[in-house]
Amino acid sequence: MSDRSQFAWTDLLWLAFLAGLAVLEPIREPHKQVILVGIGLVQVFERRLLGWTGLERGRVYMVLIKIGLATLLLPHTADVPINSSYYLIYYLPVITAAMYFGPLATVGWTAAACGAYCSFLILALQDYDLGWEAASELILRNLFFFLVAIVVNRFVTENRRQAQALAETNRRLELAQAEARRSERLAALGQLSAGLAHELRNPLGIIKGSAETLSKKASPAEPVTVELASYILGEVDRMNMLVSRFLDFARPLSLDTRLEPLPPIVDRSLQAAHERWPGAGIEVERHYAGDLPLVPLDADLSEQVFTNLAVNAYEAMGEKGGRLRVSIAPATSDGRRGVEVRIEDSGPGIPPELREQIFNPFFTTKKTGVGLGLSIVAKIVDDHHGNILVASPPEGAGQGACFRVFFPVA
Ligand SMILES: Nc1ncnc2c1ncn2[C@@H]1O[C@H](COP(=O)(O)OP(=O)(O)OP(=O)(O)O)[C@@H](O)[C@H]1O
Ligand SMILES: [Mg+2]
Repeated sequence: MSDRSQFAWTDLLWLAFLAGLAVLEPIREPHKQVILVGIGLVQVFERRLLGWTGLERGRVYMVLIKIGLATLLLPHTADVPINSSYYLIYYLPVITAAMYFGPLATVGWTAAACGAYCSFLILALQDYDLGWEAASELILRNLFFFLVAIVVNRFVTENRRQAQALAETNRRLELAQAEARRSERLAALGQLSAGLAHELRNPLGIIKGSAETLSKKASPAEPVTVELASYILGEVDRMNMLVSRFLDFARPLSLDTRLEPLPPIVDRSLQAAHERWPGAGIEVERHYAGDLPLVPLDADLSEQVFTNLAVNAYEAMGEKGGRLRVSIAPATSDGRRGVEVRIEDSGPGIPPELREQIFNPFFTTKKTGVGLGLSIVAKIVDDHHGNILVASPPEGAGQGACFRVFFPVA
């Protein structure tokens, strides 16, 4: 809304300016008025014209059209065009070029505008001689074109740079806020599940002990009792495993960090994932850089990170199989040196609207999933002062999901 009203304002100013030119001498020159209307139309529809032609080409056209219109205007505003006070209209293409292009191109376009203006000299020299005074006046006018071009270009470039820096800061802020929200949710849920899991352990132990006693004491003549006791034992084991995973996720981690090379850890994780689905037709591609620094890591916990990611990738590709691309390379993140591990699969990928949610505890889209895998991953990576990003298409090189885990070296 405010954008549109701003548009209307500048358009109105343009029209007022051109109307001002129209009522100044020479008034009874229809060509001049038509050209002024042309300039007005170009100015008002500039953005739309750029949209039609594509930005790069449109900008070139725009400056060319404006030089053309200025050059058309001059002969209709004075008997000797080069003397016309309307020569100032060349500031239009000069400033347009300064706003659209880099410094060199700006100077080039300004030279073109000067060339167009000075071309009227040829006409003038047929009837007049060029004295030093007139020549200085002409040179002065041209020099001022350059001065304005350079000043405007500097200003616009600086402005653009600041806007980019601001956008980058905003983006980082948003990321940090998302991260903080995630940590908060994790902490609250962590406490809750830790308490709950802890409370569940004792009764589970008692149920398990009782079921064991029951199955030992039951005589072979009571097969139903034995069978039921074995169900109880099986289910209790499952619940115990779940409780252990909750605790994994909820307990504050105590890291046992040592300087480790990442490739063997990643290899162990890939092996673990493969062992869970030995039959899956998944082709693993490894791209490990040669000059990898050692990273301060807790080997067991970081192995769990890659195992969870690899397991997710295997699950995403499923029975159809696919390609798992794992790369390890030196990287920097927020000015910190470190190592980045990328795990890309060729599965269905992650829809953009789910990208923030997948790290939430208990978020799962799988029938038998718990939804703790990625929250454990995020927690371990956080505790290593690293970061994890997910890039699903179109950013990732593969078609499926691409997880990027960064561990700093110091
Ligand atoms: N490589 C991937 N490709 C597609 N979707 C993925 C991938 N990795 C994770 N996801 C999505 O993120 C969700 C959360 O993953 P997460 O590992 O936290 O839990 P889960 O795998 O569902 O359960 P579990 O606790 O057993 O790991 C998944 O249910 C899935 O929808
Ligand atoms: Mg998982």
